[in-house]
Order: sequence, then structure tokens, then C-alpha cells
Amino acid sequence: MIIAIDGPSASGKSTTAKGVAEKLGFTHLDTGAMYRAVTWGLKNAEITADDIETIRHFLSEIEIYFDATNRIHLNGVDVSREIRSGNISSRVSAVSAVIEVREKMVKIQRQIAKGNNCVLEGRDIGTVVFPNAEFKFFLIADVDVRAKRRLIDLEKMGETKTISELIADIRRRDELDSSRDHSPLIQAEDAIPIDTSQLTIDEQINKIINHINLNK
Ligand code: DC
Repeated sequence: MIIAIDGPSASGKSTTAKGVAEKLGFTHLDTGAMYRAVTWGLKNAEITADDIETIRHFLSEIEIYFDATNRIHLNGVDVSREIRSGNISSRVSAVSAVIEVREKMVKIQRQIAKGNNCVLEGRDIGTVVFPNAEFKFFLIADVDVRAKRRLIDLEKMGETKTISELIADIRRRDELDSSRDHSPLIQAEDAIPIDTSQLTIDEQINKIINHINLNK
């Protein structure tokens, strides 16, 4: 069974997808982490998002996988922590707009999830990666709530940003993710919208679990 959870950044996707997967005993696939890992790899190799030929070559040799504890490895390096930095967040929208990067990531995502019970979270899971997913949810939240969530995440990593900087970052990323030519962030017609602004993590998870239990 495939469960798709899409939505903009900091809408609560990751925590919700992780909790839903744990409760159901499913695999949790964080597709945003994959785009972040590619962004980290390109930055590390000093390849810019407009250098398509070099990106093609980079992608042809890429090895990306999640280990048993769901940490993400790129070419043998555990990049789970680095990919959450503000530096990667500010670059990832440009990298994830590159069609070659998307095609490669979608292929890997389908390989990981195929024949498995999997909760996938991202931007295009219900529209492009698995349009026939059994269940589709689209998480949203107010921008100021999302900025506060990001602030807490960044503080844990020792980074400081103001709420207004984070609101501007989130708005910019929403705009880039929603307006790109390939697989833009849009709600699938058959996805169930969930506004997480006023919900606790448990409430978010339970809303999805209850819906699945009532409709499977
Ligand atoms: O969910 P996140 O913030 O970790 O995602 C990081 C970026 O990756 C986000 O700006 C858009 C991109 N992304 C995407 O284009 N498609 C996905 N399925 C997941 C993420």
C-alpha cells in the first residue's frame, strides 16, 4: 500500500509521515531528504544548478540510500545532519527544479517503494510519483506557524535566524516550488487536505490513521 503525504515546507509532513509509518509498520520515505542530499553533493562538488551537463554526469554516478535507521547516505557519506542546514535549504529549490534531478529521484523513489507498504512524503508524490496511491493527504499550515517550526529545527542545529527571515525564506521556497515547470507543488485532486496549524503532532498522525482505518 502506498500513502502519499505532500505539502509545502514545514507543514508537518516529516513528523506526520514518520509517525504514520511507525504506527502502521510501513517504510517511511522522506523524498525531500533525497533532493537535499543531491543539493549537498552538488555544492560539495562545486557544481551549480545551471550546469546541466556536469549534473548529468554527477547523477549517473550517484549512490543514494537510506540505512536501517533511515539516515540518508550520499556516495557513502551520512549527510543526514548537513542536509538540514540553512545553507542547503536555501539552495534546494533550484536543484529540485532541474528535470534531470527529478527524473533520477523519482526512479529511485519508485524502486524503493515498489511492492512495499510505504509512506512517502514530498511535493509530487500524489501527482507524479504515485498518482494511483491508495491514500493521499496534503498538509498545509499558516506561514508564521511554519516559521516557528523551522526556528526550533535550526536552533537545535545551533543556527540563528529571525522569524521574519524565516517567513521570507518559506514564502520564497513556496513560490519556487509551486511555480516550477516540472512537477510543481500542487494538491492532487483526490488528496485530503489537512491544516496542521492548530494540531498537535499526535492529532495530525491520528487524523490520517483514522481516515485510513475507516476507508481501507
Ligand atoms: O520537504 P523538504 O523541505 O525537506 O524538501 C526540500 C526541497 O525539496 C523542497 O524545497 C522541494 C524539494 N522537493 C521536491 O521538489 N519534491 C519532493 N518530492 C520533495 C521535495
